[in-house]
Amino acid sequence: MEVKPLTPQIGALVSGIQLADAMDQSSFGAVHEALMAHQVIFFRDQEMTLEQHKEFARQFGDLAVHPGIPGPEGHPEVIHIHADANSTRIAGEDWHSDVTCDEEPPMGTILHLHTVPDSGGDTLFSSMYAAYEALSDPMKSFLEGLTAHHSGETAYRGRYEHRGVDDTGTTYPNHDHPVIRTHPVTKKKALFVNRIFTTRINGLTAAESDNLLAFLFDHVAKPEFQVRFQWQEGSVAFWDNRCVQHYAIWDYFPQTRSGYRVTISGDRPF
Ligand code: SIN
Repeated sequence: MEVKPLTPQIGALVSGIQLADAMDQSSFGAVHEALMAHQVIFFRDQEMTLEQHKEFARQFGDLAVHPGIPGPEGHPEVIHIHADANSTRIAGEDWHSDVTCDEEPPMGTILHLHTVPDSGGDTLFSSMYAAYEALSDPMKSFLEGLTAHHSGETAYRGRYEHRGVDDTGTTYPNHDHPVIRTHPVTKKKALFVNRIFTTRINGLTAAESDNLLAFLFDHVAKPEFQVRFQWQEGSVAFWDNRCVQHYAIWDYFPQTRSGYRVTISGDRPF
């Protein structure tokens, strides 16, 4: 297996492995190590059934079921990521890490695309370690110990109507998390607020919270913290939601971009 860093901050291309094949302990260790070192890792030319996709993901933890999007028949842990000429919106079209409204937000997400547009449809990934490190010491000290509210209600209510989801009677998760979290494996600190889910920094006035969040949301989107992935048919991206935010670019309408996403359960941020 070869691991080629794509930027000094974030992202690596991993080659010499087929994810559909059973992994031995040493291959698992190498993939896990690459993910911990680079935060998001990419693979080319992967052929995987949904069962193989889930089996690969299961080696990193239990699979999570999304609170708002039903999976394909028989695969509740899978999300169909799809956009075409009839789409009115797409998944992930702003900076976020996945489902941070959950009490225990997902550890990681694995996306496999089988259909890509002629050009465009890239995904941006931003390192929240780098975003944290770039803050001044006084700002780091101020944010340390603060918590923020993450709202599934704001993010998801009515969001999947275009997919035929009627969420009348559905209660979406809403939880508070530290603004600065510590990664449970690397022990590094990461900024943990995002534009899709974070609605309020607790303990501040509304004006203070709005202004601080606006600053932090701009801050996480700095190109210096990012890697940009150009998909090909059969590409896979595996990102660590504990230290990465991502943004799916919808610049290819009316072309089709399609694939499947599996999400791995995580633990309570601290
Ligand atoms: C998402 O999971 O947020 C979508 C990512 C993508 O389609 O690139």
